Amino acid sequence: MIKKVLFVCLGNICRSPSAESVFRQKASAAGWDLVFDSAGTSGNHSGEKSDHRSILHAAKRGYEMTHLARQIKAEDFSTYDLIFVMDDSNFRNVMAVCPAEYQSKIKLLTDYCDDQRYTSVPDPYYGSERDFELVLDIIENAWKGFHAKNLPKADS
Ligand code: 4NP
Repeated sequence: MIKKVLFVCLGNICRSPSAESVFRQKASAAGWDLVFDSAGTSGNHSGEKSDHRSILHAAKRGYEMTHLARQIKAEDFSTYDLIFVMDDSNFRNVMAVCPAEYQSKIKLLTDYCDDQRYTSVPDPYYGSERDFELVLDIIENAWKGFHAKNLPKADS
């Protein structure tokens, strides 16, 4: 049973805190009692609020972002049931520091997307407003797949 979900990107100021906020709000609306957090493979922005552009675009869709950036740490691998990475680079970087027994917890967020165009969540940091909107489109699409996959099974 999935209880705790961690989202990971590079800086932990754009993609993963956005995913954390979207999933938290949607899970809460669905009445699901899950714990969400996010982290970066890099600690370069540790302690910082999320990027103002991520906060702005999320707010336009009704999501609040209050996360402060942090770097992924060893205990995350035992604490979290599922670790969602945003792209192949994150996947390689997280796998490189994850003990073998926990590596099966690491998944690309886009594995849960039903829109086949989405194969990664592209880094929007040097991008445009459209790139920040695309991040949210992909995350919302992944939520749909995650929600469908984790619906409680009907008693038989
Ligand atoms: P994120 O985006 O990984 O989605 O948080 C980035 C944030 C900062 C940088 C790169 C990507 N950076 O180079 O500082």
